[in-house]
Amino acid sequence: MTRSLIEQWLPAKIIGAESRRERGASSALPPVNFLHVWWARRPLTASRAAVLGSLLPAWPTAEEVTNDAQAAKILSGLQEEFPGGEAEYHAWFLHALGIFGDPVAGRAAIQAANASGVKLEGNGYGYDRAFTYTPDAETAARIERLVALRGSGDSAVRVLDPFSGGGSIPFESARYGFATIANELNPVASAILQSTVHLPAKLGPKFAATIKTWGDKWADRISKRLDKFFPRKEGESIVAYVWAHTVPCPTTGFPTPLCPDFWLARGKAGRDVAVRLEVTDYTKGTYELSIVEGAEAKRWGDRSTYKRGVGESIWGGTFSGNYIRRQAEKGNIGAMLLAISVTAPGISGRQFRAPTENDLKAVAAAEAELQRCLPAWEIADLVPQEPIDGPSNYDRGHRMYGINRWSDFFTPRQLLTHGTALEELRKIVAEARIDLGEEFGRALGLYLALAMDKACDYNSRQCSWHATRLKVRNTFDKHNFNFKWSFAEFDGAHSLFSWAVSQVEDAFEGIAKLAARPATLHGDLTQVETQIIRGSATSLPLPAESVDAIITDPPYYDNVMYAECSDYFYVWLKRSLRDTWPQFCDLMLTDKEQEIVANPALFKDVAAPSGKGRKKAEGKTAAEFADARYEELLTRAFEEAHRVLKKDGVLTVMFTHKRVDAWDTLGAALLDAGFAIKSSWPVHTESEHSLHQAKKNSAASTIFLTCRKREGSEPAYWADIRHEVECVAEEAVREFSEYGLTGVDLTIATYGPVLSVLSRNWPVYTGELDSVGNPEVLRPDAALDLARQRVAALKKRGLLGGRDVEFDRITDWYLLAWSDFQAAEFPFDEARKLSLATHLDVEDLSKRHKVVKQASGSVTLLTPAQRYTAGAFDVDASSWPTMLDQLHALMLVYDEQGLAAAKAWLTRTGLGDDTRFSDLIAAALRAIPRTKEKGEFVRPEARILDSLRTALFDHIPPLAEAASIAGMQEALFDGKG
Ligand SMILES: C[S@@+](CC[C@H](N)C(=O)[O-])C[C@H]1O[C@@H](n2cnc3c(N)ncnc32)[C@H](O)[C@@H]1O
Repeated sequence: MTRSLIEQWLPAKIIGAESRRERGASSALPPVNFLHVWWARRPLTASRAAVLGSLLPAWPTAEEVTNDAQAAKILSGLQEEFPGGEAEYHAWFLHALGIFGDPVAGRAAIQAANASGVKLEGNGYGYDRAFTYTPDAETAARIERLVALRGSGDSAVRVLDPFSGGGSIPFESARYGFATIANELNPVASAILQSTVHLPAKLGPKFAATIKTWGDKWADRISKRLDKFFPRKEGESIVAYVWAHTVPCPTTGFPTPLCPDFWLARGKAGRDVAVRLEVTDYTKGTYELSIVEGAEAKRWGDRSTYKRGVGESIWGGTFSGNYIRRQAEKGNIGAMLLAISVTAPGISGRQFRAPTENDLKAVAAAEAELQRCLPAWEIADLVPQEPIDGPSNYDRGHRMYGINRWSDFFTPRQLLTHGTALEELRKIVAEARIDLGEEFGRALGLYLALAMDKACDYNSRQCSWHATRLKVRNTFDKHNFNFKWSFAEFDGAHSLFSWAVSQVEDAFEGIAKLAARPATLHGDLTQVETQIIRGSATSLPLPAESVDAIITDPPYYDNVMYAECSDYFYVWLKRSLRDTWPQFCDLMLTDKEQEIVANPALFKDVAAPSGKGRKKAEGKTAAEFADARYEELLTRAFEEAHRVLKKDGVLTVMFTHKRVDAWDTLGAALLDAGFAIKSSWPVHTESEHSLHQAKKNSAASTIFLTCRKREGSEPAYWADIRHEVECVAEEAVREFSEYGLTGVDLTIATYGPVLSVLSRNWPVYTGELDSVGNPEVLRPDAALDLARQRVAALKKRGLLGGRDVEFDRITDWYLLAWSDFQAAEFPFDEARKLSLATHLDVEDLSKRHKVVKQASGSVTLLTPAQRYTAGAFDVDASSWPTMLDQLHALMLVYDEQGLAAAKAWLTRTGLGDDTRFSDLIAAALRAIPRTKEKGEFVRPEARILDSLRTALFDHIPPLAEAASIAGMQEALFDGKG
């Protein structure tokens, strides 16, 4: 079987840099991202690279040519296309992806220019972002010829993505002219796929004008009906209404707002604006709102009437979170209009004003109008009153605060807005179907439904006011339903729908332009077949051995609860699409049972209680049930992929997760389904920016695992392949650290190669018998844990410039934790796994040595001062149990008492001349992230170490800013070993 290009070579670093470039500016993401919210979208560049790399042939080696006639045929075909040989082929591959320069160098040049305040010409890269490139006719034709070299050439190449989500992979597959099948379980995602992968290529960019004409007509009709509920002062446009949720004050019963702060504008062009709320009569319950700026704003803006679960009444006194929840249960959560953001003629920028009597009357009138409309709307089923009563991972978010039905996410005026819009949408789409004909009318119906969803996303009680950017944040600015104490409302009559329509129109036009395919020499690519299937990846309506390649990005374990989040949209979408796209509307709510995510909420009722007191004998926890279910369904999905894939087909899986369990599950599912892992590439797809800001550690790279149907593996015992696993892990560290990976990314980059060793020998036996007396099969995590241990040892060497220096296990653990997670807080389980690699116990680390603090499910590394306060060490001692205590003692003395005291401490302890101690300082400097915000180190440890180095250890070379462990990798294999 001849190899595909990705099994031999992938310019992962370049693809990573280009993918990060694609994600660089949130306002300039690809148009697919703007059509509708979908979570965990993959970059288009990474997706196209995975598709093309999986279908194009590898450059056959001399050995392959000797042993395989097809390899010889491929070689001669490739040589004909690329007389310059393999290098020319690789260069062309990059061009075929739209990469016409060096994005790695481009990024570096931009960063350097930004640092020195120089303005670069153009975009700094010298070419447009890769995803904007649609293959021209010549490239498309060449791709077709090259792909045909590998296949039998009897039919169109078919590509499948069983977990299509927002559609990055199928969209790119279709752009390259492959017959594409996009499967997805979730009806919201299926509607997005229909409108991203299928329709734009068919309708062409001109259809954007149809969306605009009919969309504007729709927005106009809504405007006429709602005008009186959104009054405006002469010449003014309303940007947003800023509200706070309220509860009755426990003492007076008057509403009191629950506001974490009262800021309206902060730092924008040096302008500070806040709401001043002053009680005017404590007995009558009256108050006055005004807008304050400058110094006054600072005073009022930071005021908080709700912080960490405690409320403070504006009428006096405080009250607890329990009180708030009890009020919520009684339906007593209300809302107070605090301010209105407007634009007014003659004044530039967004202004603020206090609400007037007229504004408040309009709110009350809207509420009355809603009551008038509701009976008829309920009969016509226009209001999503489905209860939110299924198992939820987000209980802390909303249900506690009285949001029990999907319609409760909206205030009465917002519900009136969306109900009116839905009623008008159904009417106008019915007219369009007559006017434009069925096909175009239905297409229009779909895009207007997406505009309707966009309006719901930007106009709910979950939308907050962005005081820095002066705009409304959407409901899903995070992947959850965390309750928002203050919120923002759009002008539902005059701007919400015209804006939503223009967003969808722009996104459609952009997508359609990208999707417009050229005619090739071999046929008209505009006729490319795309098929959207709604169903579970575990059971596909496709014949056996019918697809050439499966490229997919399955759900990452417990990262996103797609179904639960998507219900927010589904309840509206099924009402908007009932007449036009019934295939997306047949469920009450989206399917949680068949969804392949590790969802503990589904098992809360059947599980044993989790936590410290839990005994294994009592049964599994909800999380354990969820893990088992995820693995079972993922295995079934891969078995189905195995069934539909042609004998010589390729499966490329994109996966990222920082937890070993997720990799263990993925590995077990692939191996049990009959796949062998052939190659693994870490592609650094996520921007450092978001990672550095993240308090918790996360992986920046996505691993591309390419698999084939397994044949001829040689089962082995674990003891026989342990050494090979260690060697492969070391080799991967060597290879990928050269590529620039560090921390947790470097660790996960070893998992693919390790799984590959297992798959060559699958099933691998432990040497024990299982509960029914059969030879026990190894769990992949045994091999992954071994890899981690090797990686840990090598990383420590990397921190020490390639040398081996003995500290102690506690100190080793501390250094590796910083180096791996690049964050003070990380999951408990990861701490435990790291402690296994360094032969320690987390309890010891937290209770005895006080290196970390444990909280529910996570641990946090303590600063020297925190450890000192906790009694972990004594600065005046003459000996210390660990070198970490010595390091922290010096850091504390230096930070609190200054340079002279630090010098005296070093002299007293003799550590000033101890090379091991200065090695430790150098290693800590490298391990602890040197991220800065506003010119200051984010971590106090980095600040103290940095000035200690300058003041007392200047023989240690300085490190570049924000690059603590970058560079350490070069040292990994230098020196000893
Ligand atoms: C990581 S996302 C895919 C994201 C996609 N690659 C993109 O760029 O937008 C995984 C998808 O798998 C879907 N999914 C979950 N369980 C499924 C199942 N049983 N069958 C098919 N799709 C499923 C989820 O709804 C989600 O959209």
